[in-house]
Parts: sequence; structure tokens; C-alpha cells
Amino acid sequence: MRTCLIAGNWKMHLTPAEGGALANTLRQRIGMRTDIEIVLCPPFVALPAVADALRGSEMKLGAQNVFWADSGAYTGQISPPMLVAVGCEYVILGHSETRGRFGTPDPTFTDAILRYFGENEATLNRKIRAVLPHGLKPILCVGETLEERQAGQTEKVIESQLQGALEGLVADELYELVIAYEPVWAIGTGQVCDAPEANRICGWIRQWLAHHFEPELGEHVRILYGGSVKASNAHELLHQPEIDGALVGGASLNAEEFEQITYCARTH
Ligand code: 13P
Repeated sequence: MRTCLIAGNWKMHLTPAEGGALANTLRQRIGMRTDIEIVLCPPFVALPAVADALRGSEMKLGAQNVFWADSGAYTGQISPPMLVAVGCEYVILGHSETRGRFGTPDPTFTDAILRYFGENEATLNRKIRAVLPHGLKPILCVGETLEERQAGQTEKVIESQLQGALEGLVADELYELVIAYEPVWAIGTGQVCDAPEANRICGWIRQWLAHHFEPELGEHVRILYGGSVKASNAHELLHQPEIDGALVGGASLNAEEFEQITYCARTH
């Protein structure tokens, strides 16, 4: 049995006071649910305020990124022990908004594909290796662009993302890993991936894990869907057999909407 996971990625929204207030509202409404896991991922500076608001509830805290060193001369970065110290259990890694497919930012800075931060498989691999010993659970995002989907490259792209990010790791280290299938074309566009297609890709990822590591790992790892998840489409997505939860962006900033999404969630 894989416990359903609903995570809210607040991206670069909400101050500590605003984030604390939203977390407090959610805590009162859905904070004691134990049949599913609910995780809030605010911006770094709001983590302590959200941690305070969630204390004593069943809801969990996650960060949106991390650097791989524990400490050092890395201006502007946040380390795994720092996230643990503020109460994080999860960390989103490899979100398409932090990735750069070729390791360099896109000089055109188009809004179609955000490649500002030059994340790549090698940096992600370092980050995953760095967080696991601290007990932080990575939520590793993978997914194709529209061009890649139209060219029939979806599985090939996801395979190379998985292969690069998980290079050199062994099955025993990966049982707490969470993967989020987030097609880039569905993020923030309102254009949700069809539930059966999202289910098919999540199943494909599960088979890949089973084949490359061991069958038990494929059965155990939770695979979420992310990209324009809303209260209106959550039921169909979350009732697909291969989809173990959702990584929610915009809709997680609205207490009502996020609460409705959690009502669609069930552990199966
Ligand atoms: P939206 O739900 O706003 O499309 O964002 C999805 C996402 O990027 C979650 O990480």
C-alpha cells in the first residue's frame, strides 16, 4: 500500500506572515488527516512560520530546493541540515522551473520553458545523495516539454532524467524517494494531462524503477502527478491506479481549493 501524498508547491508566493496564516487555516480544516499525507512547500523564508503553524498537526513541511553541501562558501544557498533544523521532511528537486536541460540557462529567457537556474541531472544527483543521509525525502520532478511530447520523445526524456538523477544509487537508498511526473506543458497552463495518459506515464516510471533497481522498489515508490491540478480534475487523476498523489502549484495557494483536492485523495 502506498500512502497518497498531496503536496502544495507554493513556488515564490506568500510572505512568512501570509504563509503562516494559510498553513493555520489548512491545519484547522485538514490538519488531522492520517489516511493520506499532506505536505506544504513554502519559500525558504516562510518555512519557520509554516512549521510553527503546523506544529501538533499531521501535516508535513517540505522545501522547494536545496544545495548539496552541508555548509561552506556557497552564497545564497540552503543546506540539507538547515532544512532539517526548521522541520522539513520533504524537498522538491528538479522542478522544471529550476532545471536547465543543457546545464546552462536559456539565453532567450522565454516564458515557455523556464531555464533560469541551470539545474541538470548531475546537480540533481548530488542533491539526492546529499539529502538522503539527513532523512529528507526527495520529491524528484520529471517531465517532457510540449516539443518533446510532439516528437514522441516523452519516455526517452523521462528515462534520461531518471537515469541521470539516480545514477550510482542503489535500491535500498531509494525507498523514501517520491517522483512527481510534471509535464512541462501542463504546469501553470490550465492544460492538465488527461488522467489515463498521466496514469500511463506514472506506470511507465514505476516499471522503469522496477526494471532498473528491483520490483519491490517499483511497487513501493510513490509517483505523483503535477500540472494544473485543481479541485475540478483532482478526483479523476487521484483515482488512477498508478497515481499516488499530486504536486499542486497554483491551486495550493487557495485554502478552499487545496482542501477540496485533499478530499479527492485516497490511499489505494
Ligand atoms: P500548477 O499546479 O500551477 O500547474 O503547478 C504545478 C507545479 O509546478 C507543481 O510543482
